[in-house]
Parts: sequence; C-alpha cells; structure tokens
Amino acid sequence: MNPSPHTEQTVYLNSKFMPMNDSKISTQDRGFLFGDGVYEVIPVYNGQLFRFKEHLQRLKNSLAAVSISNPLTDSEWLSLLNTLIEKHPWQNQYIYLQVTRGIQMQRDHLPAENLTPTVYAYTNPLKLVAAHIIENGINVITLEDIRWLKCDIKAITLLPNVMMKLAAKAQNADDAILVSREGLITEGTASNAFMVKDGTIFTPPISHQLLPGITREVIERIASAHNIPLIEQDITEAMLNEADEIWLSSSTKEALSVTTLNGHAVGTGKPGAIWKKINTYYQAYKQDFIKKQP
Ligand SMILES: Cc1ncc(COP(=O)(O)O)c(C=O)c1O
Repeated sequence: MNPSPHTEQTVYLNSKFMPMNDSKISTQDRGFLFGDGVYEVIPVYNGQLFRFKEHLQRLKNSLAAVSISNPLTDSEWLSLLNTLIEKHPWQNQYIYLQVTRGIQMQRDHLPAENLTPTVYAYTNPLKLVAAHIIENGINVITLEDIRWLKCDIKAITLLPNVMMKLAAKAQNADDAILVSREGLITEGTASNAFMVKDGTIFTPPISHQLLPGITREVIERIASAHNIPLIEQDITEAMLNEADEIWLSSSTKEALSVTTLNGHAVGTGKPGAIWKKINTYYQAYKQDFIKKQP
C-alpha cells in the first residue's frame, strides 16, 4: 500500500509539532461536538505569509465575536506558523489554522468557564488554479443562502456551505453564488463575489451576511490604485443576470472568472477584460510582495 503523502506532514497541535498521523484530539472537544470554533486560511508565497496582519486581525475578530480567548500572542502566532512553513519543502503553501473552545467532558451547549482552547494548524502545497480553468472560467448557479446571520465570523461550522456545494455539484456546477432572503447576492460558498457592468466593478458591502475576504480587500486596493471604478453596492439577482463579468475571490483561488451562470453565458462567455486587468495586477502585486521579502 502506498503511504499517503499526508503521513509525512508535520502539524501543530496544542504547543507541539508532530506527524499528522500522530495528531489526536478528544472526542469531547467542543469543536467536534458543536462546531464550536473558528479558523483561518493563509496563503504562503516563496515561504512568506501573505497578508499575515490582516488574517491575524480577522482571526482575532472571529475569536472575540464568539467569546473564545485568543490563546497566543501575535509573535507566538507568527513564530508557530513560520516554523510550520519551514518544516515543509513547498515554495507556495496555504496554512489552515483552527481554534476551538476546547475540551469539556460533560456535553453542554453552555460552555464551562476557563476552558483551554484547542489550537491546530497544518500546511498544504498551494497549487495554482489550472490554466484551462483560468482561461475558460467556471460554471456557477445561484442558490438561496441558507446560512446564519453571522457570516462575517470565520466559524468552522460549515454545514450549510457543504450542503450548498453538494447542491451545486448535483446540478453539474462548479460552485454557487448565494442569494439572501432579501434577494441580494451575498457571496460564494467559500469566496466573495464581484460583478462588472459597463466598466464598473460592483461587490456587496461588508455586512453580517458575508465574510470580509482578504482577497476582496486586495482587489479593492488594486482597483483603486489603477483607477478602475469599484463600488460597494447591494447586488440583486436581476443585476447579476445582466452582468458583463462575474468573479469569485479567495486566498487560494485569487480572482476567478465565472463564465456560465445558471446555464447561460456571462457576457461573451469568456473571462472579461476587467478581470484580465485585475488578475494581471494581482499577479504583479504578489510578485512585488515576493521580491520585497528577505
Ligand atoms: C464564505 C467565504 N467567503 C469569502 C472567502 C474569501 O476570503 P479570503 O479572501 O480571505 O480567502 C472565503 C474563504 O474561504 C469564505 O469561506
């Protein structure tokens, strides 16, 4: 039997580095029993954490929002993640890190006081999105957003996202764009949403109904730096249907063009001119970041 490549991976669990195969958590961990925890995903380019400050701030915001105490100082977070990166040979990686409220022997919705949070982190090779997907874009459907009203918290409780991914797959779509009960676009199942109309980029404003994506924020900076008009505005499904371009953004997929929406071509049916500009500037922004690192 071929050993899984993951058996070679080193993970961080509660102050210790260990082989992934040896990492074990308690069945009474509140993350396991209740999905009671938060997480982050951070890309690493050329061995360097990309937009670490922003990811750490979002982690702190998520922890504070669910009243889990931050178990580590900023420099402890940085040092543990850098150690994890150094233990793996991949130039580009992405870190998954998770903090749960900790172990509570008696299952109870009400958390006991003074629990010790469980801290887990591991890293993966970060593969670029395949060239044919970048060139052709993806096929997306709209679905009712069935999530809760605190989507700005990066909670590990992702059952609705899993169900919506499955629903998209059942309709032979790559992903779904979510529509709130008010008929407004919120985001993707694991990404933020953008559309372009007549040369202007639109994205929904930050609210409890979507995650403040780090990639979204980079795209906003790039658009502003290059004088490409971008407006944060509510987007109705009708507006989305009339869009010239649609994109999804996330740390691991960057800006990805949606070229089919509910079985119909978006614009020309190929990634659009504004996406091409933003993607070119995004790649340059990353290269600049890589060059600036020691
Ligand atoms: C629901 C959701 N929205 C947006 C994003 C994009 O966030 P980021 O750009 O910080 O990766 C993600 C990322 O996984 C997500 O899960």
